[in-house]
Amino acid sequence: MILVTGGAGYIGSHTCAALAAVGQPFVILDNFSNAQHSVIERLERVVGAKVQLVEGDVADAELVGRLLRDHRVTAVMHFAAHKAVGESVEQPLRYYQNNVGGTVALLQAMQQAEVGMLVFSSSATVYGDPASVPITENFPLAATNPYGWTKLMMEQVLADVVASQPDFWRVARLRYFNPVGAHASGLIGEDPLGVPNNLMPYVAQVASGQRPHLNVWGSDYPTPDGTGVRDYIHVMDLAEGHVSALRHLQDHAGLLTVNLGTGRGISVLEMVAAFEKASGRRIPLQIGPRRAGDVAQCWADPSLAQNLLGWQAKAGLQEICRDAWTWQCARTMGLDG
Ligand code: WQD
Repeated sequence: MILVTGGAGYIGSHTCAALAAVGQPFVILDNFSNAQHSVIERLERVVGAKVQLVEGDVADAELVGRLLRDHRVTAVMHFAAHKAVGESVEQPLRYYQNNVGGTVALLQAMQQAEVGMLVFSSSATVYGDPASVPITENFPLAATNPYGWTKLMMEQVLADVVASQPDFWRVARLRYFNPVGAHASGLIGEDPLGVPNNLMPYVAQVASGQRPHLNVWGSDYPTPDGTGVRDYIHVMDLAEGHVSALRHLQDHAGLLTVNLGTGRGISVLEMVAAFEKASGRRIPLQIGPRRAGDVAQCWADPSLAQNLLGWQAKAGLQEICRDAWTWQCARTMGLDG
C-alpha cells in the first residue's frame, strides 16, 4: 500500500492515477489546505474505483503513525507542501513549519512504523539561477527564495537520514522542472486558488476568456526570443516518473536523486503560440517588466533518470496544451464542487 501525502493536489492526484494504472493500491492523506474535496470523486472516476482517503496533516504524528500501521503502508510518496514562491517570501515561517517541519514529522513516524521507502517531491528551484543549461544533478545548489530553501533543506534532511541508516532507508528525491497539463480525461488538473502565478494556468484562463490578456514578464532576456525559457513537462509524464522511481527503490536501498524534465527548453512566446494552436483561441499579450526572482533559462538534462529508471517524458507541446485546454474547458463549464 502506498501512502500519498497531498494526494488531492495537482501532482499528487495525477500520481494516484499513475499508481492505479499499474494496479498499485494507495491511500491519500490530505488536509485540503490547497485542494478541493471534489477532486476525490473525480479521481475515483479516473481510476474507476473507490479512493481511500484520510483527512489530516502530515505533522500529526499520531494520525500518521496509525495510518501507516492500519493500512500496512510499504512506501510513501510525499507531495504535501506549500509551493507558492511569492507567498513563501511573505510568510517564511509558515513555509518552514509546514514544509520542513511536516517532512521531519513524517520521517519520524515512518521510522517508528519501520517504513523506510520514500519518494520525495523536490524541485528544479534548488538549482537557483544555473550558470548554464541543460542542468544535471551535480550542478551547484542555491535556493533563491524561502520555498526553494525548504526544498533544499528537506533534501539535506533526507540525505542525512539515509546516511544514518543506509540499509533501512530507500529515498528518491525527484527534482521537477515545470509541471503542466492535465489528465487527458479532463477530470483532474491544476486548480489554482485565485489568480494563477504560473504561466500555463494563466494562459488557459486567457484562452477561455476569464482574463483579458497575458502579461509577459520580460522580453529582454538573453534567450532566442527574449522571453523566459523553461522545461515544461506533462504532469502525467511526471507522475509516471514517480512510479518508475518507486520501482527502483524496491530493488535499491540508499539515496536516488534525479531530474524529471523533458530536456527541451520552451519560451513564453513558444508556449503561447502552441496554446493558440491547440485551443484555436487568441492569447492577447501585454509585454511587461521582468518578474523578481525569475531566471532567464532553466531546463533539464534528463539522462540520469533515463539511464537509472528507464523513464523519459513522452508528451510533446501540442499534447500538453491540448490536455490543459480540455481541463480548462471542463473547469469553465463548472466542476461539480
Ligand atoms: C514560467 C515562465 C515567467 C506567468 C515556478 C516555481 C517553481 C515551480 C514551477 C514549484 C517564466 C513567465 C509566468 C505569467 C509570464 N513550482 N510568466 N507571465 O517561475 O519557472 O517556476 O513554478 O515547484 O518552483 O518557481 O514557472 O510558470 O511561474 O513561469 O510571462 O503570467 O513564464 O516569467 O519565464 P517558474 P512560471
